[in-house]
Formats: sequence, C-alpha cells, structure tokens
Amino acid sequence: MNIIVIGHNGQLAWELAQLTNKNNTITCLGRNNIDVFCLESIASTLKKHNAHAVINACAYTAVDQAETDEKNAYQLNSDAVQNLAQACKDLSLHLVHVSTDFVFNGDKGSPYLTDDPIEPLGIYGASKAQGELAIRNTLPQQSCIIRTSWVYSTHGNNFVKTMLKLMADKPELGVISDQIGSPTYAKSLAKICLLAAEKKICGIHHWTDAGVASWYDFAVAIQEIAIDKGILSRPIPIKPIRTIDYPTPAARPSYSVLDKTSCNTVFADLPLIHWRTQLSKMMAEL
Ligand SMILES: NC(=O)c1ccc[n+]([C@@H]2O[C@H](COP(=O)([O-])OP(=O)(O)OC[C@H]3O[C@@H](n4cnc5c(N)ncnc54)[C@H](OP(=O)(O)O)[C@@H]3O)[C@@H](O)[C@H]2O)c1
Repeated sequence: MNIIVIGHNGQLAWELAQLTNKNNTITCLGRNNIDVFCLESIASTLKKHNAHAVINACAYTAVDQAETDEKNAYQLNSDAVQNLAQACKDLSLHLVHVSTDFVFNGDKGSPYLTDDPIEPLGIYGASKAQGELAIRNTLPQQSCIIRTSWVYSTHGNNFVKTMLKLMADKPELGVISDQIGSPTYAKSLAKICLLAAEKKICGIHHWTDAGVASWYDFAVAIQEIAIDKGILSRPIPIKPIRTIDYPTPAARPSYSVLDKTSCNTVFADLPLIHWRTQLSKMMAEL
C-alpha cells in the first residue's frame, strides 16, 4: 500500500516516517509538499503518489495560542480536514484522522467512552471537534478517527523535553497535579494509525498508552528515569500545584482519561503498554 501521511515534521508524522514495513510505502507530506487548504491540490497530490490510504497527522496543536488565533486553528483543524475528507471521498481512499481528549470537558470523572457527549473547553478542542464532524459527515464509511492524549516523542516539542530542560536549569519546579490524563508515546500512536490504515478500520476509537497520571506524576517519572539513565545529574524538588495557581489562556479538562475498550478488539494486534514503560523507552532513545 502507498500510505500518505499529511504532516512531515510533527511528532506523529515523524514517528510514522520511521515505521518501515515491507508491505507499505509511507510518504510524509509537509506544508511544502501539499496545500491542505486547496481541494484540487490535495486530490492531484494524492493521485500523483498513487495513494491507497491517508493518515492525517497535521494539526494546529498550540492549545493556548489558539485562543487568540481562532481563524488559523479552525482553518487547519476543520477546513483542511473537510478538504481531506472530500478528496478521500472523491478518490475512494480510506482516511485515518487523529483527534484529541480536549473535545471533552473533563467533568465526567471516569474514562470517556467514544460516544460520550463532547463539550470542548477551548478553541483548540472546539476546532478539533469540528474536524471530527467534517469527517463523520463527509466520509462516514471510509474513515477512522483516533482520539489520543498527552503525546510526546523524541522529535519535536513536548512536555517531556520541556521538563528535562527545566529540571536541568531550575532549582525546583511546580507541576500541575489536578489534571489527570494518559501520556502517550507518539511511536505507539503511529503504529495504531498505520494499522488502522492497513486494515481500513472505521469509526471513532480512543487510543492512549495504558494507565493514568497527573502532569505532576508524569514529571516525577521523567525526573526519576532521567536520573536513572544519566540524562540528568541531580534531582530537584518537584512540588504539586493546582490549575488555579497556574492560569493559562486555554482552559483544560481536569480529567480526560479515554476509555479504550474498543481498541482491545479493533487493535488487538497491538496491546496497550503502560505509559511509564513507554516513557522509559522514549528516554532511552533521546
Ligand atoms: N501533542 C499532543 O499532546 C496531542 C494530544 C492529543 C491529540 N493530538 C493530536 O495528534 C495529532 C498529531 O499531533 P502532533 O503532536 O504530532 O502535532 P505537532 O507535532 O504539532 O505537528 C503538527 C503537524 O501539523 C503540520 N502542519 C501545521 N501547520 C500546517 C499547515 N499549514 N499545512 C500543513 N501542515 C501543517 C506540521 O507540518 P510540517 O511537518 O510541515 O511542520 C506538523 O507535521 C494532531 O491531530 C493533534 O491534534 C496531539
């Protein structure tokens, strides 16, 4: 299969590019290779590459910036997704799209099911929710939406790399302890997206690494593993802080753990692995 990934330098796109597989050719197209705002450009590029399936790894992911950059967030997370869905419909291609735990409001207090009502708290989540809707309306029988959360990779900017830098530079850190979710290594997410494209899996699914954590728990684990692997030379005190004491432009769900029951059957070939094990693997590759 010729699998086209929309995105090139992003965390997920980069991990997808690393997945070599004798059954597939994976081609990652960044913003210089495809104009996602132009339906004709998408269609002609997909034809040129003789695409069999498309994975959309491109998104506006700057959660706080989106609050004052609504137009660009919606253009990439909704309008471009509508174009991709339409192009895939016109060319009879399967589309795998990635969405977010931020479509939920965080009030449920137990893991979110795929059909739980969505209620995004900010522009990023709302624009991603609109992208989901565009796909469900345009390409319901030929698309897979994978919601994920707290993505990190050796490539690109993410919480793990930010924490490592702060831990190296600062005498102590405060990290939010009242937002709970599931950290996810982009490498495991990439494998799921590829499987969904190969098997033409349809519907909405939730995929994260196994287990739950607060950002504080995540930071403590990052420091422990970093000391263990010699990435950091000394530990610094990390104290738990409350969201209310660390205001950000965008509100975030306080609890956004995703129920992954459907993955146990749909993605049975790739069992869930605990986030701490995955974090350790990622940090070994840094
Ligand atoms: N990061 C997280 O914590 C997180 C959590 C939940 C869900 N997700 C979802 O997971 C998916 C992958 O996220 P990620 O962390 O890999 O994102 P990322 O690292 O921010 O990468 C964003 C990608 O979008 C592409 N892009 C940005 N603007 C573009 C434009 N104007 N035209 C074309 N492409 C453009 C970039 O293209 P270039 O390659 O050309 O730079 C890049 O490949 C997204 O759908 C995101 O919403 C992420």
